[in-house]
Order: sequence, then structure tokens, then C-alpha cells
Amino acid sequence: MSTRHFLTLKDLSSDELKKLIVRAGELKKMRNDGVVYEPLQNHVMAMIFEKASTRTRVSFEAGMAQLGGHAMFLSSRDTQLGRGEPVEDSARVISSMVDVVMIRTFSHETVETFAQYSRVPVINALTDDYHPCQLLADMQAYHEHRGSIQGKTAVWIGDGNNMCNSYINAAALLDFRLHICCPEGFEPMQSLLEEHGDRIQLFRDPQEAVRGSDLIATDVWASMGQEDEQRMRERKFVGFQVSPALMDLANPDAVFLHCLPAHRGEEISEDMLDDPRSIVFDEAENRLHAQKALLEFLLVK
Ligand code: CP
Ligand code: NVA
Repeated sequence: MSTRHFLTLKDLSSDELKKLIVRAGELKKMRNDGVVYEPLQNHVMAMIFEKASTRTRVSFEAGMAQLGGHAMFLSSRDTQLGRGEPVEDSARVISSMVDVVMIRTFSHETVETFAQYSRVPVINALTDDYHPCQLLADMQAYHEHRGSIQGKTAVWIGDGNNMCNSYINAAALLDFRLHICCPEGFEPMQSLLEEHGDRIQLFRDPQEAVRGSDLIATDVWASMGQEDEQRMRERKFVGFQVSPALMDLANPDAVFLHCLPAHRGEEISEDMLDDPRSIVFDEAENRLHAQKALLEFLLVK
């Protein structure tokens, strides 16, 4: 069988994604109960980071250790990747020595090329276009707090970025509706909007967008690599802040998600993360459990 990669959520079938979310919940319970489960003994993961990270690094490194394996942190600053060694050569070499590779980088093409030349599974840990690992955690968080998301309405407020693109894929696989509310010029990938137009509605007014919704998510206005655009974006995104008052216009049992790190006073109000409707710290913890489920899915036969 050919090697399975996880470059976008679409590398999973709808059924596989649903099972993975349930399995993530089981692994969370096992950890809370103190159960030792080490199916990845003698397995090594290479973690290539070309951008900063807290959650992704800690969750993958801790997750591999808890599953009995080992994770190796590789920064592009200290490897030959940062000195121009071709991705194709790096992929062949690194994948000949480890069992799975995780990459956080800029261009999505880099992870695609790496996967093409890799003999072991490659996991996308964030590119400019997608952040599928985060969606595993988001969908697990919704599932554990509210049950199935099928038929519900999620709202994405803010930048049509890598997270927003991954929300579109999640909506398609888990069959929910998605309201996307962004300023003009900050829409998600056009091809995704066209492909999934039947379940997506575009809004410009957050107050209209959240009406009748069950999940509200947002993210920073300037992603990693867009630091130079911070000021310009602060001006363009005025009015796109998520606050408890905005949440009041959604369904009474709506939850709030944010992949973190968050900027209080920008995309969220000072008090949003402390609101009882915010489940962001469960969402963050779930990076650990959801990625352990992913590693088990990819590596344990
Ligand atoms: N949400 C997320 O990916 O966080 P880090 O950038 O800290 O890994
Ligand atoms: N959209 C953000 C997500 C960070 C986890 C970024 O790409 O920087």
C-alpha cells in the first residue's frame, strides 16, 4: 500500500476523520486515567520547523514520547534546509532514517514536494494555505462539548487564511454549514469557495454572520510571514473583533474557538477567552490527543 500523508484534511475520508475524532477522545480519557499505551516504541518523528510554534511542537513531542516513541526537533536555521539543500534531497535523506515527518513551513508546495519524495508519512503542521492538525483539535473540542457537528452552522470571522481554508475542508467532510465573514480582499482560497459553495455563505457584517450559528472561530489578523502587514491589517479588520456581545447574537449554546496564540484587543476582546462559551483551552489541549490519534492512524498497522 502506498504511504499515507496528512497534508490537508482531504487526505482523510469523512468516515476516517469521524473515527479519528472519536479515537482522540478515547486517548484523552486513557491519558487522564493514567493508562500507559506505547504502540510507537522504536519510532522516531522528525519535526521540521521553518516558523515559530508552541502548541504544535509541545503536542507532537509530548505525544510521540507518550506513545513510546521519540521526536526530533529540526529548525531550518540549524539544518542544511536553511542553507538551500533541495527539499527533494532532504526528504529522501530524512525519511530514510525516521518513521514519520512533521513539517511547518511557508509554501504548501514544500510539504507536497517533501511528501512526494518521502518514504514515510508526512504531516502538515501548518503552511500558508492549511492547518489541518488544528482542525482535528477544533473538531474534537466541538464534539466533546456539543456532540456531532453535522448539520450545524460554524462561522469564521476575520482573515480567510490557512485556518479558514481548513475550516472549509472540515465543513465538507463533516457536513456542516460555514459562514465566512471577512473584509473584502481577505477571502479564503477561491478554488475552495467554488468547490464547496453549496455549504458556504460569505458575509461582510459579523453581526449578520453569527445569527443562528453554533460555533464561532477566529484567528490573528496577520499570520506568520505577514508581520509587515500588521498595521495595514489592523485598519482593514476594524469591526471584525469577536466579543461576548457578538456571541450573544449566536445560538445560546454556541461555542468559541481560536487556534491560539490570540491577540486580545485585536481579533478578540480582552474578555473573550474567559467567557464561559470559550472552549479554546480544551481545543489547545486536544492538539495532543488528536495528533496522537493521527500518529496511531498513520503508523500502527
Ligand atoms: N495553534 C498553533 O498551531 O499554535 P502554535 O503556533 O503555538 O504551534
Ligand atoms: N494563521 C496563523 C495560525 C497560527 C497557529 C498563522 O499562520 O500564523
